[in-house]
Amino acid sequence: MLCSTLISLLLTAVAVEAWRFLNWIWFQPKRMEKILRSQGLKGNSYRFLFGDAKETALIYKESYSKPIGINDDIGPRVMPFISKTLETFGDRSFMWVGPRPLVFIMDEELMKVVMNKHTSFHKSFKISNPIFRRLVGGLIRFEGEKWNKNRKKLNPLFHLDKLRDMVSTMQKLCEEILDEWSNKVPTNGSPGDIDVFPYLPDYTGSVVKRTFSIISELTLLANQAQPFSIPGEQYLPTKKYRRANAIENELTHTFTNMIQERLKKRNTREINGELDLFDMFLDELNEVDTKDKKDHAMVIHEIIQQCKLFFMGGYETSSNLVTWTIIMLAVHKDWQDRAREEVLQVLGNKNKMNADDLGQLKILNMVVHEVLCLYPPSIEVSRVVEEETSLGEFYLPKGTMLMLPVILLHRNPKIWGKDVLEFKPERFAEGVLKAANGHASFIPFGWGVRNCIRANLAVWETKVFVTLFLRRFSFEISPTYAHGPLVSLNM
Ligand code: HEM
Repeated sequence: MLCSTLISLLLTAVAVEAWRFLNWIWFQPKRMEKILRSQGLKGNSYRFLFGDAKETALIYKESYSKPIGINDDIGPRVMPFISKTLETFGDRSFMWVGPRPLVFIMDEELMKVVMNKHTSFHKSFKISNPIFRRLVGGLIRFEGEKWNKNRKKLNPLFHLDKLRDMVSTMQKLCEEILDEWSNKVPTNGSPGDIDVFPYLPDYTGSVVKRTFSIISELTLLANQAQPFSIPGEQYLPTKKYRRANAIENELTHTFTNMIQERLKKRNTREINGELDLFDMFLDELNEVDTKDKKDHAMVIHEIIQQCKLFFMGGYETSSNLVTWTIIMLAVHKDWQDRAREEVLQVLGNKNKMNADDLGQLKILNMVVHEVLCLYPPSIEVSRVVEEETSLGEFYLPKGTMLMLPVILLHRNPKIWGKDVLEFKPERFAEGVLKAANGHASFIPFGWGVRNCIRANLAVWETKVFVTLFLRRFSFEISPTYAHGPLVSLNM
């Protein structure tokens, strides 16, 4: 009797799971497709499990197979499938990321609603591939009350007043790299060839250098995986996941050591002076009852997640901004000369630069804005619909993904004018609103409550680096350089 009850329970459980799986893989996507099409949205028909994944991978491979011209539009290269979908189906369209439809939101006002209504539209980390999820933790992944509490706590740390003191640290790190470059160019004044990009993560990135190589490796693994998650795939003993687990363990180990060392120093009062971001995270530990082991472990786990985010994450976006700025100044020598002239006027031979100097660099400011506009390091923002909802004229079922292609908004000639694709920093001479002819459409750091918490710092880092670079070097694109921008998974 007991045996037959157990068997029937087991069979019921298997049937329920099988139904769930079938629903996830087939019935739900088909239902969602019907709803989207009934509103005039167009896209390919759903194909079992992979959706548009195969075609997307092929078209990326093709697009990345050859370099482009330095003045060519990067849009179609870095978003080839999206460009093709929009071309084929128009602005009201969608594509398939595995079994989920992804709707393009092209209207700037709707984009802002999506970015601001953070309770209805969640970040899409929870449904992205499991290796990518290991890369990103902390504030950027939190939702609801937890996000709110964390953001409030962290906001003051990134105010401009707090960042002023960091300019001298940035200068020091930057001078170290520039010294190295100086040693690489001939002393007789003839040009030297330097690949600048590999040096920049050292500047914009971590305090923990060792983590760079393993984080790069994890990024590579994440890039190789399909962009959506198949339930349970992370538990399969594949080579990829075994390596991802080993990297994660190593990161946890590194940060646990960092936490313990800092706590020891705090206890023995070896630290004097201002507390830093790391101390802020550690203060969380004081808020829990340290006798409660479970709570304590959870807080440590969360501190490690925040460390992953703030000490390693995002460095690629920042170093991309520095790199693009250098490339554009190398191509547009007139702007390089103007920017250098201003730098020499403001700084002269002054040894230590400060935040006020940065404020006076108007030409560089325009250049960085133009670079952020044409080459936004985060080319898109995505969300997932938490509960069925309406958005403008659309009704969106729960689980629909939304793509907000920032790079295309920044290329819309109706907003920016016919010359939108030309490198014209002067459009920012009277601020971002004037540049976009009255539209609030300049959103390289997102929009609203969940915008980039580190935006000011990223811009300052770029300005410090480029200023000091301009002061010491005159530069142009190397004849051996092949222009092949590509997208890697980032924040
Ligand atoms: C030029 C460099 C950068 C650009 C263009 C950039 C861009 C962005 C964008 C577009 C968002 C909004 C994403 C969304 O709404 O889904 C964002 C959010 C965020 N960024 Fe950045 N980012 C940069 C550098 C960094 C760096 C270096 C960090 C440090 C780790 C960072 C930390 C964050 C965090 C924590 C958020 C989420 C804030 C929240 O959800 O409350 N960013 N960033």
